[in-house]
Amino acid sequence: SMNVPIKTPDEIEKMREAGRQAASVLEMITPFVAAGITTGEIDRRCHDYIVDVLGSTPAPLDYHGFPKSVCTSINHVVCHGIPDDGKALKKGDIMNLDVTVRTADGYHGDSSVMFVIGETIQGERLCRVTQECLYRSIALVRPGVHLSELARAIQSHAEASGYSVVRDFCGHGIGAGFHEEPQVLHYDGYAPEADIALEAGMCFTIEPMINVGDSRTKVLRDGWTAVTKDRSLSAQWEHTLLVTETGVEVLTARRDEDLSFLER
Ligand code: MF3
Ligand code: CO
Ligand code: CO
Repeated sequence: SMNVPIKTPDEIEKMREAGRQAASVLEMITPFVAAGITTGEIDRRCHDYIVDVLGSTPAPLDYHGFPKSVCTSINHVVCHGIPDDGKALKKGDIMNLDVTVRTADGYHGDSSVMFVIGETIQGERLCRVTQECLYRSIALVRPGVHLSELARAIQSHAEASGYSVVRDFCGHGIGAGFHEEPQVLHYDGYAPEADIALEAGMCFTIEPMINVGDSRTKVLRDGWTAVTKDRSLSAQWEHTLLVTETGVEVLTARRDEDLSFLER
């Protein structure tokens, strides 16, 4: 059954801080992400920053046994890639870095971005279209809008661009829990009772995963790494959002990020 938490003003302030912290991790690491760095080093830098500078906890670490503090998903890895000291980035790679912090107050901020290493025309187009999918859906967020409207905005843009939408993973409510209700699908697949109308005070993520090939995924024998079955390239972008009386607040907005599309 559908039980979507509505945050109190006090909780909203804590969610703002959690979102700001997650964004700050991505801002901090960005200058280090280049050909030659290992995903293990990215993980350590993010871990140490979250713990030592922010005074918070990396929520993925030990989450259902996840062994590291961030997820690093390269090329055909869809999500939940495990950082590894033997895995160096190289020219032509694309990588998703997914950061979730839990503040000392106990609230979560969850966001991910794509990095393009060197030049890759196909990779750049996939990353751009996937970010456009996220932005088009964010632009629709306000009280009364149904989750299926967000899903259709993502699916129509992805498919019109020749891509497919991953169905095996979804966005989620977020707050004191890492993953709360509702489930946020990125394709038009809602059961009627799950297609809820947004209300002010809801917090949730949108995190579309978009593939160059078909939408199917499989999980590797490490129990975590999700890859495209056809080994085609996959991209993802994620923000944590608050539904306001008049629209949306992007709680994980980065300093360099152009969100002027929200003003229209
Ligand atoms: N941050 C991911 C999300 O967007 C979840 C990662 S769970 C982990 O929901 F265990 F893989 F880290
Ligand atoms: Co998430
Ligand atoms: Co995430």
